[in-house]
Amino acid sequence: MAEIGRDILKAKALLETGQLVAIPTETVYGLAANAFMGDAVAEVFHVKNRPTFNPLIIHSDSIDKIRDYVKAIPGQAAKLAAKFWPGPLTMLLSKDRQVPDLVTAGSDLVAVRVPKHPLTLELLKSIDFPLAAPSANPFGYISPTTAEHVSKQLGRKIPYILDGGPCEVGIESTIIGFDAERPVIYRLGGVSVEEIEREIGKVDIRPHSSSNPKAPGMLKSHYAPSKKVILGDLVQLIHQYKHEEFAVISFRDFYPDVALEKQAILSESGDLREAAARLFATLRYLDKLPIKYIFAELLPEHGLGRAINDRLKRAAAERA
Ligand code: TXA
Ligand code: MG
Repeated sequence: MAEIGRDILKAKALLETGQLVAIPTETVYGLAANAFMGDAVAEVFHVKNRPTFNPLIIHSDSIDKIRDYVKAIPGQAAKLAAKFWPGPLTMLLSKDRQVPDLVTAGSDLVAVRVPKHPLTLELLKSIDFPLAAPSANPFGYISPTTAEHVSKQLGRKIPYILDGGPCEVGIESTIIGFDAERPVIYRLGGVSVEEIEREIGKVDIRPHSSSNPKAPGMLKSHYAPSKKVILGDLVQLIHQYKHEEFAVISFRDFYPDVALEKQAILSESGDLREAAARLFATLRYLDKLPIKYIFAELLPEHGLGRAINDRLKRAAAERA
């Protein structure tokens, strides 16, 4: 069973010898490997049960190190890096030859980001290779936002989990690319569209398709609990399914007709940041209850609300 601790030297030693370590970031926990060791990267796909056509993000502690892993950093990317790194933004850039093809699933682009978590930044500073790290969950399931989430699902398969406490942002990084006329957002995430547009002007948003070659991992059904998730008007759903066992995720409101332990409020004050930080832990908690359905309502479609709604829709999508 994985040891859980805060020992950076131990994490470093394991990564240097090609073993996997779960690492905290501000978004979600990652399952990290030395990105330059083919066997270690292969093990990441194996442990997650992840198809190898789905590429991995590489993590580093500074844009200066990242310069060595890419051919060039376009002006708009440099501007975003200056504003949002360390932080929940991933950029697709032309990859340097030394980044293994397995990491990028054969693509000429590599996804790079500087995560914002003190433990992981310290770890990254202490090593001279980047970390390839997808979210530390079995493929298709909800991303982990605590060390315990990682331990429950992957603890038997990895030696160490670096415990950095609950993730502050709680949803994955925003992914942006620059090879079209306008920058394209391929995954809505921790940096909002509005924040990005304030820096570099209008962007296109193409988040949803499984046929999108730019983000093969953005499958329609993802982040999926095992209970059936239904989105809609909560008052109506609660009435319509009154003879069934269900739980409710609401943005701000309490529903007196529903048992206390079967409802989760994402943010009573209507704070989208708080709602994002609570979303995945809430889905996990409700998924374990003896119920048949999870009902949820969509949040306001702005700021982090867009990324939250994206995750709720994927959680509710029919599985192939
Ligand atoms: O917040 C995050 O980004 C977290 C933390 C651990 O950093 N990581 C994460 O990784 O969410 P993952 O593997 O669960 O999602 C990465 C997404 C996938 O949908 C993948 O298809 C896309 O990034 N991606 C990675 N490399 C890519 C590439 N070269 N071209 C296009 N899409 C890429
Ligand atoms: Mg993931």
